[in-house]
Amino acid sequence: MDRSCFLVVMLVLSPLAAWAQTSDFEYPTLWDPSTIVSSSVDYADGDAKLKGYLAYSNATSGPRPVVIIYPDWDGISNYERFRANLFASMGYAGFVADVYSQAVQQGPSIPAANRSALMMPFRSNSSYYRPRLLAALNTVRTLDIAQKDKIFAIGYCFGGGGVFELARAWPNTPGLLGVGGYHPGPLVSAGPKMQAGSPLRVYAFSGAEDPGITGDSVVAWKDEMRAANVTWGYYNYGATVHGFTLLESPVWTGNKNVSNGYNAAADHASWWALRGILLEVFQLTNTSNAYTSAGGAYDYQTGMAGTKLMSA
Ligand SMILES: *[C@@H]1O[C@H](CO)[C@@H](O)[C@H](O)[C@H]1NC(C)=O
Ligand SMILES: *[C@@H]1O[C@H](CO)[C@@H](O)[C@H](O)[C@H]1NC(C)=O
Ligand SMILES: *[C@@H]1O[C@H](CO)[C@@H](O)[C@H](O)[C@H]1NC(C)=O
Ligand SMILES: *[C@@H]1O[C@H](CO)[C@@H](O)[C@H](O)[C@H]1NC(C)=O
Ligand SMILES: *[C@@H]1O[C@H](CO)[C@@H](O)[C@H](O)[C@H]1NC(C)=O
Ligand SMILES: *[C@@H]1O[C@H](CO)[C@@H](O)[C@H](O)[C@H]1NC(C)=O
Repeated sequence: MDRSCFLVVMLVLSPLAAWAQTSDFEYPTLWDPSTIVSSSVDYADGDAKLKGYLAYSNATSGPRPVVIIYPDWDGISNYERFRANLFASMGYAGFVADVYSQAVQQGPSIPAANRSALMMPFRSNSSYYRPRLLAALNTVRTLDIAQKDKIFAIGYCFGGGGVFELARAWPNTPGLLGVGGYHPGPLVSAGPKMQAGSPLRVYAFSGAEDPGITGDSVVAWKDEMRAANVTWGYYNYGATVHGFTLLESPVWTGNKNVSNGYNAAADHASWWALRGILLEVFQLTNTSNAYTSAGGAYDYQTGMAGTKLMSA
C-alpha cells in the first residue's frame, strides 16, 4: 500500500507525512482462504536476488492463467498480496513481482524519502527497469502452475508505469498477452517506444483528476499506442485522483489540494473492467468453465467468493 507516486509527493508532502503508517494495512478477506495456497518464489535479475509472492486456489488443479502484479513505490505489501489472492479466488494464479529485491525492506513503513530513493533509479532509467520487469515474467513462465501462454500483467502507480515498459520491452513474444496500468506513473517513456505490430493489449486505468497525469502525456501515450497499432484502452475515471484503488487511503472528497484518495466507484469499475479483459484475452469464452459458470467453484454470480468479490 502506498499513498502516491513521486510526483504526487512533491505536491503534497506534508499531508502524506501526516498519513504515514508504521504497520501494514489489514485488507479484508474477500476470498475463501481455505483453498488459497500461497508461497514465496525466489528468482533473480543479474545480481539482484528477488522474492515474489505466488497465490492460487487448490480447488482446481493444473496450470492456469496468471496475472502478474507489479508493486507501487513501497514495494511488496499486503495491498499487492490482496490483489494476488483475489485473482487466486477467481481461478487464476496471482504473482506479485519483486522489483526492489528481498534485501530491501518493503511495505508501508518505508519513509517517503526512502521510497523515492528506491523507485527513481528504475523510473528514470528504462534500461535498468525493463530487465527487472522481464525477470518476473520469465520466472512465471517456469512455474508448473502457469499456463505459459496465458499471462497478463498489471501494476499500480510505479508498477503501472512499469507494465507499459514491460509491453515496450516484450512486444512480440509468446506468453504475455497484455498489460494494465492502474493510476500509472509515468505514461510515457524516455526509452524505446511500443513496437509496431505487437499483439499485446495495453490498458490504462487512470483518475481524471490525478495531478501526476498531464494532458500532454495522455495524448503522447495514445499516439504511441496508435502508432504501434496495438489493441489499447484508456479508462479515465471522473472525480478520481491518484491511488484510487488503495482501500486504506482516505476517501477523496474533491479537495483539489489532496492528490491521493480512495474512490470505491472507480476502484470497482476498473476492477470489473479488468475482469472482462482477462476473460477476453485468456479466451475464457466457455461459460461452463470455472470462471463464469453457475456451478463453478468460483462463480462470481452465485458463489460465496463471488458474492464477496462484488464488494471488491
Ligand atoms: C488447499 O489449501 C488449503 C490452504 O492452504 C489447505 O488447508 C488444504 O488442505 C488444501 N487442500 C488440498 C486438497 O490440497
Ligand atoms: C531510509 O534511508 C536511510 C538513508 O539511506 C537509511 O539510513 C534507513 O535505514 C532507511 N530506512 C528504511 C526503513 O529503509
Ligand atoms: C541505466 O541502467 C543501465 C543498466 O543497468 C546501466 O548500465 C546504466 O549505467 C544506467 N544509467 C544511468 C544513468 O544510471
Ligand atoms: C492494425 O492491426 C489490425 C488487427 O490487429 C490489422 O488488421 C491492421 O492491418 C493493422 N494496421 C496496420 C496499419 O498495421
Ligand atoms: C488549498 O490550499 C490553499 C493554499 O494553501 C488554501 O488557501 C486553501 O484553503 C486550501 N483548500 C482546501 C479546501 O483545503
Ligand atoms: C466448457 O467447459 C466445461 C467445463 O470445463 C467443459 O466440460 C465443456 O466441455 C466445455 N465446452 C466446450 C464447448 O468447450
